[in-house]
Amino acid sequence: MEAFGLEGVVVADTRMSAIDGDRGELIIGGLPVAELAELSVEEVAARLWGGDADDLAGALADGRRAAHARLPGLGGALDAGDGMAALRGAVAQLDDDRPAAITGAVAVFAAAWWRRQRGLPPVAPSARSHAADYLRMCTGREPTDAEVAAIRSYLCCVVDHGMNASTFAARVVTSTRADAVSAVVAAIGALSGPLHGGAPGPVLDMLDAIGSPDAAADWIEGELAAGRRIMGMGHRVYRVRDPRAAVLERAARRLGGRRVELALAVEESAAAILGRRHPDRPLRANVELFTAVLLDAVGLDRRQFSTAFAVGRVVGWLGHIAEQRAWGRLIRPRARYLGPRAAAGA
Ligand code: COA
Repeated sequence: MEAFGLEGVVVADTRMSAIDGDRGELIIGGLPVAELAELSVEEVAARLWGGDADDLAGALADGRRAAHARLPGLGGALDAGDGMAALRGAVAQLDDDRPAAITGAVAVFAAAWWRRQRGLPPVAPSARSHAADYLRMCTGREPTDAEVAAIRSYLCCVVDHGMNASTFAARVVTSTRADAVSAVVAAIGALSGPLHGGAPGPVLDMLDAIGSPDAAADWIEGELAAGRRIMGMGHRVYRVRDPRAAVLERAARRLGGRRVELALAVEESAAAILGRRHPDRPLRANVELFTAVLLDAVGLDRRQFSTAFAVGRVVGWLGHIAEQRAWGRLIRPRARYLGPRAAAGA
């Protein structure tokens, strides 16, 4: 059977996560995503990598400190205008490929890039939780408990999601026995593409453009008439509402996110309109709709959203990298040749 794009093809065994797209269920590290989102990043890392969460808290704090010390030596990597390009260039310079070192560095580099964009010096990390420290290093101020809870839920919620493109890229590179830094650089490259994790910024643009709930239906009809897609709606795997949308909606609501009601109205309107156009293809809210609302509410700028995704997802990449190493099988599919062949004997 042809499976171009590898849709539906199983390429590995994993203990990281399982998705049931028809029922809208997501299990990560053995827990439903709603329960996982109540844990700390350290506890989630312990579930995915093995080990003790307290030990990992220390190792992650060490990783953030080591990465901060490297900032002056990164050359122009963090000057890139695009956050994912900056992250790629900075992470490529790491020489410690332990999971906590890489995870700590991604948070530090993502935050330092954003501050440099605004002409501000980096904020030194501290020994507090990974989620709280990331937010503080981004904003330069002490986050509230509610903000920490929200960013922690977000980072845990996006930590892993089956064999998505960036995870697969990390697995392919690891399968050649390359080091974890190379695999994470490849994953960052895959995540930088607009089809993978690029929607929350445009979601915020959409909510700004719509402005108020009663304007949603007309705006959506106009976009569809112009041949454009509604950001934050639809998913390759889910046929019901993405379970992460509910978790992030709840987290944003707890924080009093000012765009929660607007996002809900847009979702309701879009689902009804898209349902009439595609009666056989349910199109519901995906993770990006409430990601945008939540990250905006904790004080991140929309240009930081893709790097925030990498700060969360790197924990999952590193879990898959460890699994791939343990398995040891080179990933080597085939391609169908469509080019010319010299005639026999010519
Ligand atoms: N808005 C409008 N129409 C949409 C849509 C959306 N968000 N998502 C899918 N559709 C339409 C497609 O145009 C297609 O219509 P057609 O059959 O008339 O061409 C139909 O629904 C089926 O879509 P399909 O291309 O099979 O979906 P997919 O599985 O390839 O796409 C996404 C999945 C996520 C890429 C797609 O839903 C999308 O582009 N969403 C908006 C961007 C977004 O939020 N991305 C973040 C994903 S987490």
